[in-house]
Amino acid sequence: MFDFRPADDCPKPEAHRQLHEAADALTADEPDGVANMANIAALLWDFLPDVNWTGFYRMVEGELVLGPFMGRPACIRIPLGKGVCGVAAADAATQLVEDVHAFPGHIACDSVTNSELVVPVLRNGDVVAVIDLDSPSKARFDEEDRAGIERLAEIISDRI
Ligand code: SME
Repeated sequence: MFDFRPADDCPKPEAHRQLHEAADALTADEPDGVANMANIAALLWDFLPDVNWTGFYRMVEGELVLGPFMGRPACIRIPLGKGVCGVAAADAATQLVEDVHAFPGHIACDSVTNSELVVPVLRNGDVVAVIDLDSPSKARFDEEDRAGIERLAEIISDRI
């Protein structure tokens, strides 16, 4: 049994540290990328309060294709440059969006979503996937979340 969930009163930097430790432990010896993405999506779902979607889009033949996730069924294919995920992948740059309704071209997979954090996963300089986090609260994600999830992306970059 795995039970990595942090305590309810755990400060955010400590929760991120525990998330990194758990992600490393779960993926270090497993070569199957789908299994690893599935466990990371589940870890994010457990670790992060106030989220309604946690998961991956993978770069497949020049577009983003839905990967393992937790949450409601989502759009399957996202062209590069479209939506928050497509911009993160095209620019190889994290997108921290306080209000998705103000983001030009935002793709609404779930009308409940109000804010979003999308972090590219880079391998040898190429974007191989993005980690997408959605929240029903406006401005749910901050710079600590950005730093924490960017570190997570580094840890898993050659394991997915
Ligand atoms: N809202 C995203 C699409 C993916 S879903 O949120 C799961 C976007 O604009 O890229």
